[in-house]
Amino acid sequence: MTLRAVPIGIGHYLPERVVPNAEFEGKIDTTDEWIRARSGIERRHFAAEGETTSDMAIAAANAALDNAGLTAGDIDALIVATSTPDLTFPSAATMVQAGLGLKTGFAFDVQAVCAGFVYALSTAQAFIASGQAKRVLVIGAETFSRIMDWEDRATCVLFGDGAGALILEAQDGTGTSEDRGILSVDLHSDGQYRDLLYVDGGVSSTQSTGVLRMQGREVFRHAVEKLAQTAHAALDKAGLGADDVDWIVPHQANLRIISRTAQKMGVGMDRVVVTVQDHGNTSAASIPLAMSVGVARGQIKQGDVLVAEAIGGGLAWGAVVLRW
Ligand code: UT7
Repeated sequence: MTLRAVPIGIGHYLPERVVPNAEFEGKIDTTDEWIRARSGIERRHFAAEGETTSDMAIAAANAALDNAGLTAGDIDALIVATSTPDLTFPSAATMVQAGLGLKTGFAFDVQAVCAGFVYALSTAQAFIASGQAKRVLVIGAETFSRIMDWEDRATCVLFGDGAGALILEAQDGTGTSEDRGILSVDLHSDGQYRDLLYVDGGVSSTQSTGVLRMQGREVFRHAVEKLAQTAHAALDKAGLGADDVDWIVPHQANLRIISRTAQKMGVGMDRVVVTVQDHGNTSAASIPLAMSVGVARGQIKQGDVLVAEAIGGGLAWGAVVLRW
């Protein structure tokens, strides 16, 4: 008997304000055409003034709880993947815990930037497999609009805000790839690449929040190389191949990265959940947002094999294979 972390509820939240590419024209030297052609992004959502990462995470969590037919009291561990918490501390996760009225269990944040949700899934799976938690609420939530340099056209047009939440439950499996739930995980990081993508402020260095800095072309190059590798490695560990994949649910940073990764994996774009056109890059929120939208669209169905893959600042990257 193998304890599996099985998805039983999914939900998301997007802030009301939609910002089309055209809004950047006139403010900075860019065009809708450039943004679409280079990134696939058409619009993104920005949080309202005063709306925080934990506010959005709570909304996504409530949607996931509704979807699962559960209440907050049914959750015994809560993980928020974010690089844009409301405060330096306490964790966004404990704020979400309070916002849900949950007084039991434990809550903490995971910070692996755009790979955050993959890391958080892996963490949740480990808690479930070791018997430390029965139901884990895993959330990706970000307000990247708060760490943009609005004069840097190479970054400020790419990111957006939002939150997605997934509930994983411990269920007995057979130990084969026929089981529902997380089947395998493959994680990597390499800190020598920290200068490719970082925020130029922080508590112990500048005592300020800072803004995002990215060498886009270099990150692109690493993404195309590393994402297919980690996805293949995760599939290998699960004893599955590309033909078994029903849906790639990629980190939504750039449509060209998404399609090249799918191509390298030998998976057609008709088996890839794509939301980057509507959400932009929402960092750790992008995979759970795409999962939730994929379910709502009727793309992802129970029993489907999903590969979630992501790369971001660190560099940190990885993939998770799960059967929905
Ligand atoms: O989520 C974490 C992981 N992050 C990523 O995966 C992002 C990875 N990188 C990318 O998605 C792409 O590299 C970008 C979308 C950021 C940029 O696309 P690119 O095709 O790599 O463009 P580039 O950086 O090579 O820039 C090409 C040109 C440059 O002009 P010159 O030097 O050729 O004259 C840029 O200055 O495009 C210029 N440019 C822009 N032009 C109009 C950069 N940003 C803009 C802009 N509008 N917003």
